[in-house]
Amino acid sequence: MQLLLLGATGLVGSHVLELALADPRVSGVTAPTRRPLPSRPGLSAPIVDFDKLAQDPSIWTADAVICALGTTLKSAGSRERFYRIDHDYPVEIARLARANGATTFVLNSAKGADMKSLFFYSRVKGEVERDIMALGFERTVLVRPGLIDGPRPEPRPMEQWAGKLLSVLKPVLPLSLQANRPEAIARAMLEAAVSAAPGVTVVPSQNLH
Ligand SMILES: NC(=O)c1ccc[n+]([C@@H]2O[C@H](COP(=O)([O-])OP(=O)(O)OC[C@H]3O[C@@H](n4cnc5c(N)ncnc54)[C@H](OP(=O)(O)O)[C@@H]3O)[C@@H](O)[C@H]2O)c1
Repeated sequence: MQLLLLGATGLVGSHVLELALADPRVSGVTAPTRRPLPSRPGLSAPIVDFDKLAQDPSIWTADAVICALGTTLKSAGSRERFYRIDHDYPVEIARLARANGATTFVLNSAKGADMKSLFFYSRVKGEVERDIMALGFERTVLVRPGLIDGPRPEPRPMEQWAGKLLSVLKPVLPLSLQANRPEAIARAMLEAAVSAAPGVTVVPSQNLH
């Protein structure tokens, strides 16, 4: 299976990349990024301007797509920019991949994704889910982690504080309220890319441990 991976330089995406390159079921990975990845056997990592996606079919031709691309409101700097990155980029790439024959799309969404939510973040995740489902892939998988707890190069004080709190409370919290490790999310996303059931599948946070 040829895999198209978005967000390969991120916390979840970098784990997907490692798992995919070691998986005999994956024949090759294309990982378009905005900063270079070290060259590896089986990996093609073109540098792409995500605001002007090249139409070159060789980048977007794959059997399955895993999207772990996204940002934070703070890094994006505005709601408009956040929407562009977390909604428009995945949907535009999904459209290109669909047009070039991809049959499976696996989206790293978020717990609480809901286009009617009062929270902007959850609304954006709900809208990206809706617009990707509308493209009619044979298999669409919406993976909805809670807090993603793992080492990051940049400080995210709120997330780090919440991660510490959840880890103290872990023994008494149900799985659905515990933080998710990026390794577990990546494993679930790769399995979904290889063998999801036809139709739309939602993977809730309690299944990402
Ligand atoms: N943080 C949480 O607790 C949490 C919880 C639930 C769901 N999520 C969602 O899960 C997904 C993956 O999370 P993560 O923690 O793995 O994210 P991450 O570590 O921040 O990685 C995000 C990826 O998206 C890429 N990206 C960000 N802005 C971009 C831009 N303007 N142009 C091109 N690429 C861009 C990054 O590339 P660079 O390396 O070049 O920046 C990186 O590869 C995101 O959609 C996030 O919203 C997060």
